[in-house]
Amino acid sequence: MSTNSSLVSQINKSRIPEHIAIIMDGNGRWAQKRHMPRTVGHAKGAAGVKALVECCAKRGVKYLTLFAFSTENWQRPEDEVSTLMGMFVQYLEREMPSLAASGVRLKVIGDISVFGPELQARIRAAEELTASNSEITLVVAANYGGQWDIVQSFKNWYATHPTANLNELTAKQLEPYLSTAGIPDVDLLIRTGGEQRVSNFLLWQLAYAELYFTDVLWPEFDQLQLDLALRWYSSRDRRFGKIKTC
Ligand code: IPE
Ligand code: IPE
Ligand code: MG
Repeated sequence: MSTNSSLVSQINKSRIPEHIAIIMDGNGRWAQKRHMPRTVGHAKGAAGVKALVECCAKRGVKYLTLFAFSTENWQRPEDEVSTLMGMFVQYLEREMPSLAASGVRLKVIGDISVFGPELQARIRAAEELTASNSEITLVVAANYGGQWDIVQSFKNWYATHPTANLNELTAKQLEPYLSTAGIPDVDLLIRTGGEQRVSNFLLWQLAYAELYFTDVLWPEFDQLQLDLALRWYSSRDRRFGKIKTC
């Protein structure tokens, strides 16, 4: 992985995002540019994830959420969907032991009830294996949609408060029912692959995120690219509706 010490020195270390979310886009185009099947791009994209998680931990990021499969991605050709599912199973089997050894805690968000029993069991096993790790939390969004998350949070809140007065419902009351309960909102959203949209990712949790779009395709997003995003983020003035104080 390429890195650059003068670039790293330009990152304001007191302004490292606590939570980075990434829309890992551009795998298919990366492969097609090389006249290879799209699935080769997915494999190449997945191969870089472990190093990136470790770089984030090294820079002091505490939560990294990766968009692996959206509720809309079921509309892709069947063979692409099944390859992606197969890769997810393999990834949990091959990479989790070493990620676990590096202190990574895994959490999967999304409606995993539609996945096969083998995949569901592997997800639960990997979450349990890493539950007490604290270097960084890796959140993988699989069969995830931001609209789904908001709707399911409301349903779960309502199931536990059947007699509550809806007029008194607040955002703070719903938050513990979101799939990201206990995880701070996103500070920095990175989208690779050139598109400038959120594609139904963490709609609620992105409320005050800084948005970083890059043309770099996901299989080429390395430590250098991460540091460029961190440098950009560290120069942002986050006002949260207030006015600049200095
Ligand atoms: C992102 O890459 C990976 C997933 C959505 C699973 P794409 O497969 O969307 O790649 P492009 O956008 O077609 O290049
Ligand atoms: C977003 O990428 C989903 C993931 C990265 C998992 P897409 O490639 O599916 O997004 P759109 O359809 O171009 O917006
Ligand atoms: Mg895409």
